[in-house]
Amino acid sequence: MTTPIPLFDPMVPAFARISRVDRELPDVFTWHLAAPSGAGFSFAPGQFNMLYAFGAGEVPISISGDPNRPEELVHTIRAVGAVTRAMQGLRKGDTIGVRGPFGSAWPLAEARDQDLLFVAGGLGVAPLRPAILHALAARSLYRRVIVLAGFRSPADFIFRKELERWRSRFDVTVEVTVDRADTSFRGTVAVVPALIAEVELDPAATVALLCGPEVMMRFAVRELERRGVPHERIHVSMERSMKCGVGFCGHCQYGPTFVCKDGPVYRFDRIERLFYVREI
Ligand SMILES: Cc1cc2nc3c(=O)[nH]c(=O)nc-3n(C[C@H](O)[C@H](O)[C@H](O)COP(=O)(O)OP(=O)(O)OC[C@H]3O[C@@H](n4cnc5c(N)ncnc54)[C@H](O)[C@@H]3O)c2cc1C
Ligand code: FES
Repeated sequence: MTTPIPLFDPMVPAFARISRVDRELPDVFTWHLAAPSGAGFSFAPGQFNMLYAFGAGEVPISISGDPNRPEELVHTIRAVGAVTRAMQGLRKGDTIGVRGPFGSAWPLAEARDQDLLFVAGGLGVAPLRPAILHALAARSLYRRVIVLAGFRSPADFIFRKELERWRSRFDVTVEVTVDRADTSFRGTVAVVPALIAEVELDPAATVALLCGPEVMMRFAVRELERRGVPHERIHVSMERSMKCGVGFCGHCQYGPTFVCKDGPVYRFDRIERLFYVREI
């Protein structure tokens, strides 16, 4: 799958209308966007857009929709600060600005005929979702497909119904865990890297795609190492604050790289040294 680049001036936002808002959690919502022109939005799983709430500001948000449905652009957003809270206040029919798609993609072409292991923490399920949907739609291209997802508590699940749907398929392994729960919860209580310790793996034929808080990814990498998965088979999605989104301003510098154009998806062995430096 090639990485689409914007056709027009990457600094000029296109308009997109909010056609549906799904409330995932009190502070997390999913936008379904339609281009007023009717033109589609091509992207590669793993890429992000710069979304502009007029009057509030612009932020990078991963695309969480289905790459096989380019007529609709989907983003899942947690309201954490000024811009994302303003976004939470927008409704169906409102218009926002979109620049993108930008950045690198999950290595789905390289992973053909391999086992695909998705490891998600919390909202990290959203940037992985397009890759999971692609793998499920093109199931014969891959060997095993394994999805491991961890949430803070049962109340923090996102895409719950979809996870259940994937889990009911005979050709996918889906394991979900929570960090903490009361005694009424019947599922697994553990941090998500603990699921890696349990799952059946063929390390030499596994491509692992990780997305979530950096601390969770650190422990997940450690567990993958323990299971014998080589670093060049591990891919992580990094987040840094951004301004231009296209490699001009240096705002998202991560060592010698810019997350907006060299990332957000990195092959782990290429950033390993940086990954363990705190506060970089
Ligand atoms: C490539 C990329 C993809 C992203 N994808 C998504 C996505 O799919 N969904 C989503 O909700 N967010 C995503 N983010 C994070 C999102 O861009 C930030 O949450 C947003 O920029 C915050 O802007 P704000 O003005 O609302 O909050 P700010 O006022 O900028 O920040 C409010 C608080 O949130 C913290 N914060 C800001 N950015 C982050 C971050 N990246 N991670 C953790 N804490 C942060 C700040 O430290 C501060 O405490 C992504 C970021 C990047 C770089
Ligand atoms: S955001 Fe400007 S260089 Fe990456």
